[in-house]
Amino acid sequence: MASPTTRIFDNRQQMVEACAAWLVNRIAQTPGRFAIALSGGSTPKPLYALLATPDISRRIPWDRVHVFWGDERCVPADHPDNNARMAREALLSHVPIPPANIHAIPTEGEPEAAAAAYQRTLQDFYGASTLDPSRPLFDVNLLGMGDDGHTASLFPGAPQLDEASAWVVAVRNQKPETRITLTYPALASARTVLFMVEGAAKQPALTRVFAGDSALPAARVHADGEVIWYLDRSAAPGL
Ligand code: 6PG
Repeated sequence: MASPTTRIFDNRQQMVEACAAWLVNRIAQTPGRFAIALSGGSTPKPLYALLATPDISRRIPWDRVHVFWGDERCVPADHPDNNARMAREALLSHVPIPPANIHAIPTEGEPEAAAAAYQRTLQDFYGASTLDPSRPLFDVNLLGMGDDGHTASLFPGAPQLDEASAWVVAVRNQKPETRITLTYPALASARTVLFMVEGAAKQPALTRVFAGDSALPAARVHADGEVIWYLDRSAAPGL
């Protein structure tokens, strides 16, 4: 597996613009369906808003794009903390993506049942229940990183870090709200894992991740294809 590619930008806006350009280009180069897993939190919001602007949106064949999520908070779909709600408000409600191409993680009912249901959604889309490294599930898996080194809803020391077969699991007692997250096998099933990280608060954790500190969940993310880091200068380790 190739070593990660890192691009450092002077500020968040440049990072977001470069990421948008990269995505437009990658979608254009990819024939047929394009599967992207979105991340939640605040970092990707300006990227989603930029993708929704007419100059960029018109360059994306939205009918070929399928949107998934790397994780979700177990809160109602209209709750301010719901990741899918943020993406709908910033991007998906402003572009002509077919509703059937939006595959949100269910958040009603028991989290474990919702995780199992989402796993079935992914497997139905993939067409198999076993991941083949030569045929990644996602074209792009967009990830962020918390200042504790978590990614998706894989938190330091959590038992879900050791999940090696399930694609989607529930995560209790790590945050105030229960979460649902893709596991490392599912996160890795991607042509490209693209991390977007910005802000000085992330630099200590990012320094440890880049030093290979496996105590930080983001350090353990691999990809069948490539891992790319898009950083703003304030987050970048002393590279
Ligand atoms: C979530 C995200 C999570 C996020 C990091 C960084 O549901 O919160 O998926 O993994 O990427 O917490 O969040 P910020 O971008 O807000 O710093």
